[in-house]
Amino acid sequence: MEEFNVGVVGAGYVGLVTGACLAHVGHRVRCVDKNEARVAELAEGRVPIYEPGLEELVARGRKRLSFSTDLPGAVRDSDVLFIAVDTPPGEGGSADLSSVGAVARSVGRALAEAERERAREKPLVVVNKSTVPVGSGDYVSMLVREGAQEVDGGNVPYRVVSNPEFLREGSAVYDSLFPDRIVLGAEKRDALDTMRALYQPIVEQSFPTQLDPRPRDAVPFVTTDLASAEMIKYAANAFLATKISFINEMAALCELVGADVTNVATGIGLDDRIGARFLNAGIGWGGSCFPKDVAALRAVAREYGHEPALLDATVSVNERQRKAVIQKLQRDLRTLKGKRVALLGLAFKPNTDDLREAPSLEIARLVNSLGARVVGYDPVAGKGAAAMLPDLKVVFDPYEALAGAHAAVVVTEWEEVRSLDPEKAASLMEDPKLLVDGRNVLDPAAALDAGLLYRGFGRG
Ligand code: NAD
Ligand code: UGA
Repeated sequence: MEEFNVGVVGAGYVGLVTGACLAHVGHRVRCVDKNEARVAELAEGRVPIYEPGLEELVARGRKRLSFSTDLPGAVRDSDVLFIAVDTPPGEGGSADLSSVGAVARSVGRALAEAERERAREKPLVVVNKSTVPVGSGDYVSMLVREGAQEVDGGNVPYRVVSNPEFLREGSAVYDSLFPDRIVLGAEKRDALDTMRALYQPIVEQSFPTQLDPRPRDAVPFVTTDLASAEMIKYAANAFLATKISFINEMAALCELVGADVTNVATGIGLDDRIGARFLNAGIGWGGSCFPKDVAALRAVAREYGHEPALLDATVSVNERQRKAVIQKLQRDLRTLKGKRVALLGLAFKPNTDDLREAPSLEIARLVNSLGARVVGYDPVAGKGAAAMLPDLKVVFDPYEALAGAHAAVVVTEWEEVRSLDPEKAASLMEDPKLLVDGRNVLDPAAALDAGLLYRGFGRG
């Protein structure tokens, strides 16, 4: 395989996983972050985020993986430089590109400075992995050029590639080593050739692993222009969010007509054209990406004078799901004043410590505002949640959360929550022992037998 010198700017969920995986498959990687504390921690071998398998991968890759705050050094020494910084929601929901822009400009300056010392043999491939709206590739290219001009006005050799990321938190290492596809957008063919060579070990799965690869011959490349690659990323997230909102719409109808949405999901999901995944009804989608990416796509649509009716509906169904939790609590508890409500799981999904746009936060605020005391359990994200919500009492044992609770809400389907013992839960809870299963993961019959008042989403 051809070994590359790779720089990854932004050592967060995406950058760190990307860097560790590229080092694991044989490249030399330097991860750069402006957060000095984060870099110092990583340099000592501590991984600042919770992501299964990542700590081990970072430890094993240490010979080929380094961490630094030195962006110019990474630009000078890299063949390929990934931008994997945050693109949070900005004004009116549009993506805030200030981190991406700052990096692009610094890359231009550093490239021009490095060129003064020694001319590069091949252009630097600047790869945008952050999720950005259409046109951002051109924007990055312009800022690199402007940054270079600030130094000496000359032309610097670089290419811009869009390589959107599709990893899921909680299985980020697996998704990066065994992706469904690799999307590459560029205007120049030589940059695509470099990217294909860089990803070859992943495409051929020629690296040591104890993980079970996805059953397929090779990972497909989708090579396209910059704009289409950028659009693919937003379209993928918007489609997945819409799929979840669709099944939540069906769940609401199931409740009215007396059907069970979990059976409906099984029945439609076996159709290959529909597919079984992302049909779990419940409290709806959250996280660092679906909310902000759907918002950014809606903002782009409006910028162009298009009313994104389907995306608007996707969001309003999702907002309704959060309110449905409160309605289910009110229906059986009547008033929430003075009641104790346990939230089982706080992270936006299992196997992550990420609380960005976590449904738990909104539910906790709403329940609290109605006068109930809220106790939250999460095996990993508890401390973070306590720091964000001062009124939330956080415990680290699910049964401690249930003790004395009038109602419990399954918010995040951690294994510890899925495997809850209904008898033990019922023995600890106060009447009416209401269990709102916000993820439809518990067995209604076992819960009812144990004396819990079970309420799922769309389960008849
Ligand atoms: P993150 O907030 O976890 O990490 C971003 C990192 O970039 C931080 O460590 C920050 O300090 C660093 N940074 C910001 N500006 C910098 C600068 N000027 N120089 C150096 N470092 C800088 O973000 P994330 O979750 O990894 O997401 C990164 C991008 O990837 C976003 O655009 C996101 O939409 C996209 N994405 C995220 C996921 C995910 O699951 N988290 C999946 C696919 C795509
Ligand atoms: C999502 C996408 O799945 C990734 O492909 C993408 O790269 C990433 O966003 C991103 O752009 O950041 P992630 O947010 O980590 O990944 O998590 P998901 O597993 O997609 O779950 C998102 C939300 O949807 C969670 O709150 C989850 O609980 C909810 N969800 C998911 C449901 O409510 N029902 C489902 O059937 C599936």
